[in-house]
Amino acid sequence: MTQRRLLVTAALPYANGDIHIGHLVEYIQTDIWVRFQKLCGNRCVFVCADDTHGTAIMLRARQEKRSETALIDDMRTKHVADFAGFGIEFDNYGSTHCDENRALCAEFWAAIRKAGLVSERQIEQLYDPVEQTFLADRFVKGKCPKCGTPDQYGDNCEKCFSTYSATDLVDAYSVFSGAKPELRPSTHWFIRTEDEHAFLADWTQTGDHLHPDVAGWLASAFLSEALHDWDVSRPAKYFGFEIPDAPGNYWYVWFDAPIGYIASTHQWCKAHGEKLEDWWRNPSVEVHHFIGKDITRFHTLFWPVMLKAAGYSLPTKIHIHGFLTVDGEKMSKSKGTFVRATTYLKHLDPQWLRYFYATKLTPKLDNLDLNLTEFADKIDVDLVGKIANLASRTANFVQASGLSAKYPDDGGLFADVAAAGAEIAKAYEACDFNLAMRTIMLLADRANKYVNDTTPWKLNKDPANAAQVQDICTVVLNVFRQLATYLAPVLPKLAADAGALLNEPITSWNQSQTPLVGTPVAKFQHLMNRVDRKRIEAMIEESRDDLAAKPKTEAPGTSPAADITSAAGASPAAGTSQWNDGPEPLAAEPLALTCSIDDFTKIDLRVARIIAAEHVPEAKKLLRLTLSLGGEEKRNVFAGIKSAYKPEDLVGRLIICVANLAPRQMKFGLSEGMVAAAGGGGPEGKEIYLLEPDSGAKPGHRVH
Ligand code: 2FM
Ligand code: ZN
Repeated sequence: MTQRRLLVTAALPYANGDIHIGHLVEYIQTDIWVRFQKLCGNRCVFVCADDTHGTAIMLRARQEKRSETALIDDMRTKHVADFAGFGIEFDNYGSTHCDENRALCAEFWAAIRKAGLVSERQIEQLYDPVEQTFLADRFVKGKCPKCGTPDQYGDNCEKCFSTYSATDLVDAYSVFSGAKPELRPSTHWFIRTEDEHAFLADWTQTGDHLHPDVAGWLASAFLSEALHDWDVSRPAKYFGFEIPDAPGNYWYVWFDAPIGYIASTHQWCKAHGEKLEDWWRNPSVEVHHFIGKDITRFHTLFWPVMLKAAGYSLPTKIHIHGFLTVDGEKMSKSKGTFVRATTYLKHLDPQWLRYFYATKLTPKLDNLDLNLTEFADKIDVDLVGKIANLASRTANFVQASGLSAKYPDDGGLFADVAAAGAEIAKAYEACDFNLAMRTIMLLADRANKYVNDTTPWKLNKDPANAAQVQDICTVVLNVFRQLATYLAPVLPKLAADAGALLNEPITSWNQSQTPLVGTPVAKFQHLMNRVDRKRIEAMIEESRDDLAAKPKTEAPGTSPAADITSAAGASPAAGTSQWNDGPEPLAAEPLALTCSIDDFTKIDLRVARIIAAEHVPEAKKLLRLTLSLGGEEKRNVFAGIKSAYKPEDLVGRLIICVANLAPRQMKFGLSEGMVAAAGGGGPEGKEIYLLEPDSGAKPGHRVH
C-alpha cells in the first residue's frame, strides 16, 4: 500500500467560549479519523487553532479589563487542556492571532486583489456609540417590527418568524451596552464570489469533495442565483489584523479564520523542518476539513475561492457533521445538558464519550443524539460486557504460562476477525464509524460465544486441562487484541492497555492480521468501568444553570456582561459555532437534510391555483406568482422558475405549494410560500417541472 499524505483540520473553536460536549463531536470525530490514518501507516498531520478575532472578543476583554491577547492566551490554554483530556491529539494547535497568520492573510489578500475579485463601497450599518463599534445584526435587539415581541435579534423574529433588517427593529438597543444604535456609513471591502460562479458550480458538484446532499443544497440554495458579494472588512474598532492597504479597517474574522488552518500548518512545518509548500501546494497531499453543518457556506463557497486565488490546494474533501442533541433536545443550560468538557471530565471517563459518539457518527449530516440512558447502557454492554470481558475472563489463567507456542485451532475465528479488518477499515475511511463499531461488536459477540462455549473458568479447576485452557486463552486474548486494534482510533487507552497486557504495543492496523504466540502475558489490570448512573446525574446537576431558565427581563443595558457571556455560551447550535459577528445568519441556517415523520407533518402542503404570474425584472431567475388557496386566501410567492416557464403559460394552473413557510422578505417583496417542483435544479436551473395534482383536486385541498 502506498503511503498517503494527509493534512487534516477541525474547525477552529472560538476563543470566547469553553469547549463543551457539542464541540467534542467534531474533535473526537476528526481525532478518530486521524488516528485511523496514522495506524494504517499514512502520513497524516492534524492541525487546529483557536479562532481569536472579532467584536465579541474585543468587548469581552474590555469588560474583563484585560488585553485581548491576555484573554485569548488564557482561553487557548484551557482549550488545549480540554482537548488533551479527551485524548484529542493535534500535531499543532495554534492561534489565528499569530505572525504566520498575519503574513498569510496579507498574501491571500494581495492575490485576491490581483485576481480582480475585490470591490469597495460604502454601506450604512448600525453603530454602538458607547462601545464605539459597528454592530452586526446579531448584536442588535429590539421589538419585532411586525408583531411587537420584545428582545428579538436584528435579523428575524423568533415569535412570528418574520425576517427584517436590524434597522427595522423598534426601540433597538445594542446587546453590548444597551445604547440606542446609530446608523453610520463606512467603507467596506467585498470579495465578488459571483465572478467565480462557474468555478464553484464545478468544484462543488464534481469530484466527490462534498456529500451529495451538501452539493445538492448548495446548487439549489446558492448556485441557482447570482452569488452575493462577501463583505470581508470591518472598520475600527475591531480585534483582528489591520488590512495593509486599507488602514483603519480589519479583515473580518471569517476571512482570517480558515487561513489559520494554513498558519497552523506553517508552525508545524517550522517545528519539523518541513516546507509549507510541500503540504499546501502539493497535489499529492490530500486536504481534509472536518466541520459542523452550520459553517458549510464558508468552507464550500468562500474558502475555495480564496484558495484558488492564492494558489493553495483546494480541499480534497469536506466532512460535515450534524449537531448534538441531548436526550432528543438542544443542549440546555437550564436542563443541565449544556455540559462543558471540564465538567464531563470531573465525573465520567472520556473513553466513554469517544466510543458513544463513534457509534453515532456516519458520513451523513444528521444530528446525533446523546441519550444518557443509551449512553450508559452502551458502555456497559459493549465496552465492559463484550470487549473488556474477553480479557478479564481469560488473562489471569495464562499469566504464568504466557500464550501457547503454536496458534491453536479456533474453528476459523481469528481468520474471520482478521478478514473483517478490510471492511472495518473501509468504514473508518468513509467516516462511517457507526458501521465500524457495529461490525466490531458483532465480532466481539462471536468471541464471547467462543468463551461461553469453551468455559475456560470451569476447565481451569482441573490442572490436567492446563494446555487446553492455555489454548483457549490464547485464542480469546488474540481476538481481544484484534478488536483492541480495530478500536484503537476510538479507544487509544484501551489499545495501550491491551498492548501492555500482551507485551507488544499496538502501533499498526496490520497487527490485527497475525496472532501472537509464545509471548508472556502481564498481570491483568482492570480495563474499563461500568457507568455509575449517579455520576451522570451529578454531572447534569453541576451543569444546571437555574438562572438560564429565567426569561431575561432586565432592562437592556443593565447587564452587558451577562449578555456577552451568556449569549456566547448558550448558543443553541451546539455544533462548533458559539458566536459569530458577521452579518450572515449562520447558526440559523443549518442544512435540514433529514426529517422525522413529525417534522414532515408540520409542512402544510396545499393545492393552489396560479391566478397571476409576472417577471421580476431585477431578478434573473424569479417569477412573481399570485396563488389562490381557495376562498379569499391568496399568497404572493417568488419562485425561481423563470428559466423553465413563461408567466403567461402559468396562469390558471394548479400547483402544490408549501402554505406554512415562514414569510421571507426579499429585495422585491415578501415571499409567502413556496411552490413544489421536481428536477435536477443544478447550477443552470434548467430542469424544473412544477408538480400538479391529479384532476379533481381543488385549491385549498391539503396534500397528505
Ligand atoms: O464556527 C466556529 O466556531 C468558527 N470559529 C469556526 C472557524 S473554522 C475555520 F474556518 F477557521
Ligand atoms: Zn415578530
